[in-house]
Amino acid sequence: MKNTVQTFKEAKKNHMKLAMLTAYDYSTAKLQDEAGIHGILVGDSLGNVILGYEDTISVTMEDMIHHGAAVARGAKNALVVVDMPFMSYQTSVYDAVVNAGRLMKEGRANAVKLEGGVSVCPQIKAITDAGIPVMAHLGLTPQSINAFGGFKVQGKNEAAARKLIDDAKAVEEAGAFALVLECVPAKLAKIISEQLTIPTIGIGAGAGCDGQILVYQDMLGMFSDYTPKFVKRFAEVGSVMKEAFANYIKEVQAETYPAEEHTFKIDDEVLGKLY
Ligand code: KIV
Ligand code: NA
Repeated sequence: MKNTVQTFKEAKKNHMKLAMLTAYDYSTAKLQDEAGIHGILVGDSLGNVILGYEDTISVTMEDMIHHGAAVARGAKNALVVVDMPFMSYQTSVYDAVVNAGRLMKEGRANAVKLEGGVSVCPQIKAITDAGIPVMAHLGLTPQSINAFGGFKVQGKNEAAARKLIDDAKAVEEAGAFALVLECVPAKLAKIISEQLTIPTIGIGAGAGCDGQILVYQDMLGMFSDYTPKFVKRFAEVGSVMKEAFANYIKEVQAETYPAEEHTFKIDDEVLGKLY
């Protein structure tokens, strides 16, 4: 059954935890979908894990549309959320609605995600009013990395914690259907989750959230540039891949691959005429 924003709202009411992962391509989305994932985020983290940038700043609308559409083709039941890239919504409410619309029309998104609290509430309201569900994102918001001055846990002092609670209530009020909390102390994330009626999706925000999300390369052990504390490796796919690549190279050089069974035949009669 197709997961919708309604499924997400009901999950919170019924205390059913939501499991989300990122994906950026058809094959991975299909595997996650078949495993029963509730939602897939086409994150602008694709800048890091797919394109090899150091941050998400350079990711474009075209990148998000390209990968969004690929994921949408592989996701039958999962809700597909596509990230709005840096400067596609911060500049104006008009830009936000136009670009959210493109992510839905061309990127085949079921919903979009954007970063920020009170300051982007006019955008959240306008996009939602246009019929496009919005997932909000607070705490460590990577598009503001230059303003933060590094990747650090957010909301640790009283003022910052209060601001986070106020921002969370504001995005709910503006119409967001869910809220990602990234790198927030677990007890603060729990308080926020209890005060909202929309589900919180945590990443580095503890088990008190209504759901969880991870970058799939992180949880599969496929990305080793850096590993945040909140990542749990559910498999060592990176090692498995590297070993398979190395074995392939060895077999090509040893001429054990391709073997007879991997080849195509031609009739001897035809072959005879060639000499
Ligand atoms: O881009 C991304 O992958 C994200 C998640 C980490 C929430 O925004
Ligand atoms: Na993101």
